[in-house]
Amino acid sequence: MTDATNLDGAVTLITGAGRGIGQGIAEVLSERGAVIALSDLDADRSLVAAEAIKESGGNATPFGGDTTNQDSMDGLAEAVIKVFGRIDILVCNAGVIGAPGYQDRHEHTEEDWDATYGVNVKGFVHTSNAVAPHMQSLNAGRIVNIASHGGRKPRGAKAVLGNVQSPYSVSKAAVIQWTHLLAIELAPNNITVNAVCPGTLWTPMWEKIAENRRTADPEIAEFSAREVFEMSVKERMPMGREQTPRDIGKTVAFLASDDASEITGQALNVNGGAVMN
Ligand SMILES: NC(=O)c1ccc[n+]([C@@H]2O[C@H](COP(=O)([O-])OP(=O)(O)OC[C@H]3O[C@@H](n4cnc5c(N)ncnc54)[C@H](O)[C@@H]3O)[C@@H](O)[C@H]2O)c1
Repeated sequence: MTDATNLDGAVTLITGAGRGIGQGIAEVLSERGAVIALSDLDADRSLVAAEAIKESGGNATPFGGDTTNQDSMDGLAEAVIKVFGRIDILVCNAGVIGAPGYQDRHEHTEEDWDATYGVNVKGFVHTSNAVAPHMQSLNAGRIVNIASHGGRKPRGAKAVLGNVQSPYSVSKAAVIQWTHLLAIELAPNNITVNAVCPGTLWTPMWEKIAENRRTADPEIAEFSAREVFEMSVKERMPMGREQTPRDIGKTVAFLASDDASEITGQALNVNGGAVMN
């Protein structure tokens, strides 16, 4: 790990990296020299994303792995260390917006609480549990947790949209607090732990959010999911534009670099100014 533009040879494990934000993080870190262990619940997705990085000249190896299962994460960490000898950077990214069928509901269910708690909270704990002892043995490491600006602010003012996103927002607030706690725990081992809070990105996750809003609000029912997304960006983003997976990747690259060696326990908004605390 040297500077923001050079992560030469740093072995980086990213969860949920088969598509969306995780894939963007993998691309940017690869371009900056990192060796990528690309993990996803959907192993085929990992394979395709790793192939794309290799075709661009990067070094990426696909792995499966279910973050909701501690044994699965222990096995993943062991497999990555077996292949590469070490893990320098861990990016906990895998997340869900709710339980299956989220896009058709306007009130949260028990399943939404279980799904978001299982993946977005316990999933991050399992992944760190699996990797942190190894980083402690190296007396070095960088952990970056992908939270959300949704963990910092209440949902929009339109009550008509229901409260189906509440479990997700609570789970992302928990990620921020988990980041603080883990940062304190691992600081004596020269390991930094930070969170990135993305804003609004057009990924399969946001497609579900847009679909949900479209079906809940008669005023926007005739718009496509993409149009609903664009309206939301215009309403909420002072910069007037959406963020991209690569924007999140650039911030992760900075937090993983030597330039960020004195930054720990922070949660950094990458959201065009939509939330400022
Ligand atoms: N898209 C946004 O606007 C946005 C905004 C803020 C935060 N985020 C956060 O960014 C992260 C990535 O979001 P995204 O939009 O790319 O989502 P996405 O749904 O497009 O991709 C998530 C990936 O995680 C994988 N995954 C899900 N559960 C898993 C599990 N148990 N184990 C391993 N992999 C699993 C999926 O297979 C998928 O490939 C999430 O933590 C999300 O909450 C997204």
